[in-house]
Amino acid sequence: MTEPEQAKFYNRKAAVGDEPPTEYGFVGRDLDIQSVEHHVLKDTGSNELLVRGMAGAGKSTLLAHLAWWWQRTGLIDQVFSFSYEDRAWTAAQITREIRSRLLSPAAHAAADSMPEAAQAEQVADLLRPDRHLLILDNLESVTAAPAAIPHALTPPEQAKLKTLLSRLRGGRTLVLLGSREPESWLTNGASGPGTYPLPGLDPQAASLLVEKILDRHNAAHHLTDPAERAALNELTDLLGGYPLPLTVVLPVLATLKPSQVLAELKQGGAGADPAGLITRAIEYSHGKLDPTLQTSLLLLAPFTAVIPTDTILDMYQELLQQDDAVRALGPLDLTGAVDQAIAVGLATPHPQVGYLTQAQPVLPYFLRSRLSDRPTLRAAASCAHYQLYTQLAATLHDMLTSVGDPQQRTTGQTAARAEFANLTAALDHALADGRPVNPIITVLDEYLDQAQQHETRRQLPDHAITAYHQPVTDDQRRELAQLHYLAGHTALIQYRLDDALSSFETELHLKQALGDRRSEAAARHSLGFVARERRRFDEAETACRQGPRHPP
Ligand SMILES: Nc1ncnc2c1ncn2[C@@H]1O[C@H](COP(=O)(O)OP(=O)(O)O)[C@@H](O)[C@H]1O
Ligand SMILES: [Mg+2]
Repeated sequence: MTEPEQAKFYNRKAAVGDEPPTEYGFVGRDLDIQSVEHHVLKDTGSNELLVRGMAGAGKSTLLAHLAWWWQRTGLIDQVFSFSYEDRAWTAAQITREIRSRLLSPAAHAAADSMPEAAQAEQVADLLRPDRHLLILDNLESVTAAPAAIPHALTPPEQAKLKTLLSRLRGGRTLVLLGSREPESWLTNGASGPGTYPLPGLDPQAASLLVEKILDRHNAAHHLTDPAERAALNELTDLLGGYPLPLTVVLPVLATLKPSQVLAELKQGGAGADPAGLITRAIEYSHGKLDPTLQTSLLLLAPFTAVIPTDTILDMYQELLQQDDAVRALGPLDLTGAVDQAIAVGLATPHPQVGYLTQAQPVLPYFLRSRLSDRPTLRAAASCAHYQLYTQLAATLHDMLTSVGDPQQRTTGQTAARAEFANLTAALDHALADGRPVNPIITVLDEYLDQAQQHETRRQLPDHAITAYHQPVTDDQRRELAQLHYLAGHTALIQYRLDDALSSFETELHLKQALGDRRSEAAARHSLGFVARERRRFDEAETACRQGPRHPP
């Protein structure tokens, strides 16, 4: 190999990385992979495919595996992956993230000044001629209404995402979507993504997975008893060969016989629709836990994407126990509950952040539906979650802004990225409940600034101001003024001078009403600064329009 060839080879190897880890190793899916490949490669118009299946069918695992495999075999160049479990990704945010990896920093920054729609067109033009892979996973969140699934997009944002996807149709870049729902909103007449309904594992792969799960939970002895083995096969069929229901239910075989579990699960109505299967599996395994673990798990309902462990989880438990309704439930064991979630495959340790576990999206979904008819507990849990993140926000902010310790800053960024969904959920709780938002807003703003997610950063104070309750106390007026200051500051950095001017004006009015001279002076100072910038800008523009005053 020549030197440039070598560099290319090793760069690619570094980008591809190791096979994505799967709790029990990746099994089966050969036929599914073939079908997906056939679909997206058969002709130019079919480069987009929706992999649809119930929660726990194995969609995310398959998408991650395909991304790795296709990169390894050289079919695709880069992978751009977005999960709506992490946040409500808008077309503008997706556009920006992709562009930052395809263009030089200078070209990337220059593109920022174009209107949003033009930026999306540019990114589509960058993607169409080359073979990359774009993954949008957990797409069911985009149009979701129930409180059990967060991160929906507003109809105008849905339309923009739809436009972006339609621009990629017929290009070389492959687009894979993962969802529980048919996502018919993406289809216009004959044009829209094809659908691949993801089935359970084939019988051979399912029995391989079953053996691995039994091994792990010291239940392999059932395999040697012919009657129990037959019951186990029937149980696997009943669970549709779907991987997550298997990992959730089979650990109970450590203490129960397959025939017993089969009989009990059949009582719940055999042959229920597959969508209900995972809920029934979780319900069953949840029902086998002792009452302390059952309630403890329920109280984890407010967490999205990740759940903390160790001392932070203890802090959450203490906050919960300040509530009378929670204390009346008796002792709690949240650490035991998280361990249990890990044991049945509903959570896994976070690959980068030591104090976090990653939850399967179906876990909070299940827990929230379970809490929906217990409003007192639900309120207590969201309140404790909010208080926890108010405290964590301060710590994260210290890490993000620590001077002279780059390692600390990087850790802060990784943690803030992982905790993003929890922080925004806590913010929304505060806004709905009229509680202080400042610590959480401040850390989100800092993180988004460092991550250069300008679009999201711009929306943050606007969203908070729109949702802010009419202030009644001076503290609330001060906080609202601070939000307008933040909006003005962000607008100024992004050189949106009119927006900055109006934000600082509102800030000043609020501060005048408070009668706090010193902070009033600060607001006047900002206003003066923007007004001067504005004049300079106008003068420059007029000069430009009039042309040179003294022709040569
Ligand atoms: N092909 C597979 N081989 C082994 N385990 C799998 C496979 N597919 C999924 N799993 C297991 O099942 C769990 C749920 O799969 P996941 O892809 O997250 O489901 P979905 O995205 O459809 O909700 C994963 O955590 C993984 O442990
Ligand atoms: Mg998934």
